[in-house]
Amino acid sequence: MPDRPASRRGGRGQRARPEPPPAAEVVAEAAALELLSEGSIEVEGRLVVATNATLYCTVRHAGREAACVYKPVAGERPLWDFATGSLAGREVAAYQVSRAAGFAIVPPTVFRDGPFGPGMCQLWIDVDESVDIIALSRRTDDAALRDMAVFDAVVNNADRKIGHLLPDPGGHLYGCDHGVCFAEEYKLRTVLWQWRGRSLPGRSVGALRRLQACFETGQLAAGLSSLLTAEEVAATRQRLELLLKHRVHPYPPEDWPAVPWPPV
Ligand SMILES: Nc1ncnc2c1ncn2[C@@H]1O[C@H](COP(=O)(O)OP(=O)(O)O)[C@@H](O)[C@H]1O
Ligand SMILES: [Mg+2]
Repeated sequence: MPDRPASRRGGRGQRARPEPPPAAEVVAEAAALELLSEGSIEVEGRLVVATNATLYCTVRHAGREAACVYKPVAGERPLWDFATGSLAGREVAAYQVSRAAGFAIVPPTVFRDGPFGPGMCQLWIDVDESVDIIALSRRTDDAALRDMAVFDAVVNNADRKIGHLLPDPGGHLYGCDHGVCFAEEYKLRTVLWQWRGRSLPGRSVGALRRLQACFETGQLAAGLSSLLTAEEVAATRQRLELLLKHRVHPYPPEDWPAVPWPPV
């Protein structure tokens, strides 16, 4: 896909550290964001596996085009524990946190108007179909997967299923479906518990520190405040501080189903 930001990693298990991206990638990311924000969206079809209205689309602008996912707020299935109409904003907030930390887990994602009203628009990632994502989800030696577990702890992801892992052909691991993140209460629900109780690797601590620095400038919180409640932004910061204080992967919550069902 021409508009996907370039991958910056080697083989599986050898993925690069989450460092501030090189200038070329920043440009690619900015170009993707511009296309997603400014482009005209043509709906190609609905993803049948999806529980919400998740539309597969083409977005076109200034002679460029890319595949994307568009989830209109109007198509969100109401949930008992998340404010109605708030899921698209959570997906964009997850992107902003992933980007600020340098995790590069969430594909470029924007909030914008579309054919069915306001919603989120996210770059489509062509996955490497030869990767066995069930086997991948169980690995303990994959640094990018481990980063994803740390990212999920920060954003309090309540739905990290195996099908939400998107390994691209360049060896980069993306993730999707971050609509049920950022609850104030601890609701981590994931298939990635294999590192529970273990010390965070240095690269994750580095990413968390970068995120902390972005919070300290006030810019990140300002961006998040239009997408989440003030309490949810504060809770995110608290989770980050706790992770940096204890430097361990969290344990499953006791009073909450800790693994999504179905897990795929
Ligand atoms: N940005 C993306 N790139 C590639 N595939 C995606 C992307 N977003 C979603 N998908 C695919 O579509 C499926 C459904 O999307 P998802 O975001 O999980 O919708 P829902 O919120 O309805 O569960 C995912 O499991 C994944 O296979
Ligand atoms: Mg899903």
